[in-house]
Amino acid sequence: MTTSSIPGYTLGTAEVAASPISDAEFALLKQTVLLGEDDLRWLRIAGEVLDDQIEAVLDVWYGFVGANAHLVHYFSGADGKPDPAYLGRVRQRFGQWIRDTCAARYDRAWLDYQHEIGLRHTSAKKNRTDGVVSAVPHIHLRYMIAFIVPITATIKPFLVRKGHAAADVEAMHAAWFKAVTLQVTLWSEPYVAPSAF
Ligand code: HEM
Repeated sequence: MTTSSIPGYTLGTAEVAASPISDAEFALLKQTVLLGEDDLRWLRIAGEVLDDQIEAVLDVWYGFVGANAHLVHYFSGADGKPDPAYLGRVRQRFGQWIRDTCAARYDRAWLDYQHEIGLRHTSAKKNRTDGVVSAVPHIHLRYMIAFIVPITATIKPFLVRKGHAAADVEAMHAAWFKAVTLQVTLWSEPYVAPSAF
């Protein structure tokens, strides 16, 4: 699938507003999550390992959300039922996000899209991309942060599957954890007052 065929996926386009984070602030964030050049190398390897497993990963994550009423709530309409069209549209962008997370060069276009993804979880932009009418207006920040755990724990069996040495799997997994934590930290920015971020 090409990225231009994914509805609502706008990384690198003029539709995305500029991230307010400066290069110096971003450098300190990377430093704080201990993310270095070696991690980028392991993320690239993880990208190769995951490439043909994306749908299976998404099945696990969607299974987890679907099994938790307090999470699937955010994809549900006013009737309280999960909206399959909404779930389906977000799923395509989620798959691309796995690829982007492993391939990230952390350039301005990527940083701007992190700002956009953050906004899409808040009342500033949630539901707009997919024309969803009656779903709840924002995702609570506490679940954004807590979700780092399942997104990290559940990726491990997929990293193991291609027969890499245990130490290499650990390195891929550590890099994934850092990359996800870095992103959720960036996504928390629109939730809080600029002076607090
Ligand atoms: C959208 C990842 C937390 C519900 C997205 C997208 C990604 C993503 C990649 C699509 C971004 C795009 O439009 O390109 C993540 C990650 C999380 C997280 C990595 C935490 C580690 C949550 C939680 C919920 C949630 C806790 C609650 C169930 C949603 C919804 C959308 C969305 C409803 C669609 C927003 C819209 O209307 O545009 N998420 N998410 N996410 N996510 Fe999350």
